[in-house]
Amino acid sequence: MSELLKHRKVGIIGIGNIGASILRGLLATMKEGRFLIADVRRESLDAFADDPRVVPCDSNKQLASESDVLILAVKPGDVSAVLEEIAPVIRDKLLISVAAGVTTEELERYVSRVIRVMPNLGARVGESVSALCGGRNAVAEDVALADEILSAIGSVYHVKESDMDIITGLSGSGIAFFAEVIDAMADAGVHEGLPRDQALAIAAKTALGAARLVISGDKPAMIKAMTASPGGTTIRGLYAMESRAVRAAMMDAVIEATKRSRELR
Ligand SMILES: NC(=O)c1ccc[n+]([C@@H]2O[C@H](COP(=O)([O-])OP(=O)(O)OC[C@H]3O[C@@H](n4cnc5c(N)ncnc54)[C@H](OP(=O)(O)O)[C@@H]3O)[C@@H](O)[C@H]2O)c1
Repeated sequence: MSELLKHRKVGIIGIGNIGASILRGLLATMKEGRFLIADVRRESLDAFADDPRVVPCDSNKQLASESDVLILAVKPGDVSAVLEEIAPVIRDKLLISVAAGVTTEELERYVSRVIRVMPNLGARVGESVSALCGGRNAVAEDVALADEILSAIGSVYHVKESDMDIITGLSGSGIAFFAEVIDAMADAGVHEGLPRDQALAIAAKTALGAARLVISGDKPAMIKAMTASPGGTTIRGLYAMESRAVRAAMMDAVIEATKRSRELR
């Protein structure tokens, strides 16, 4: 843990999928620290009641006034109401927003130093892909701090704000596309006679293996070449995929999700 984070009180508003994952990640990676949390659902706060480092707050305003850094993890439609409520006490604080589609310009109406982040659901298991960009007034230390916080839930990429819609399609929505592919492959295993639990676990771990190979530096084409022997099973399966335009369908999924993200702005 760096000095940057050690001496700051981090407040999280919205302890749902993403907010709770960020908190769990920070608690796992930081021995010290003080984390303030608020949510309209009191039961979401109760889950952390046993950790002395976590301070549940009765209101967003109390949390905002007592925190040095604020993480806003409510749904996009709730962002402006929360910011209206806490604006008077956050003027000189750093705001990190994970709300999809809410621009730094919109956030800057309420607070000067902002960081916008697009995480994904992998955050629940410490495997988020988080893209971040700083607003006009965010300084290097703000960006470094946000990077450190998000590293607690997975990988962090620094991107231009104009690329956030592509990130939304590729990783924000993309995790659901991979889930769909894993599910379809498991269905095929069941079709051919495997028990469902086994088929699903094997399909998911096969996807994980492919991902790890690519991350280790193997190009997808190399994995294909190393698996597909002449006249064998893999090339027959690849032919079936090619006949059904699976590559084009996967590209379309990301392109359409990106377009939809642009429409929602
Ligand atoms: N989930 C994803 O895959 C994903 C990916 C990328 C980005 N994001 C972004 O992350 C943000 C959070 O998403 P999520 O999936 O974590 O949502 P979520 O599970 O619904 O969590 C949001 C939490 O905030 C609470 N809340 C609502 N209004 C509030 C208020 N005024 N003050 C305090 N708490 C309030 C919600 O309570 P109620 O349920 O009662 O409203 C809920 O417990 C969203 O802006 C989303 O765009 C999510």
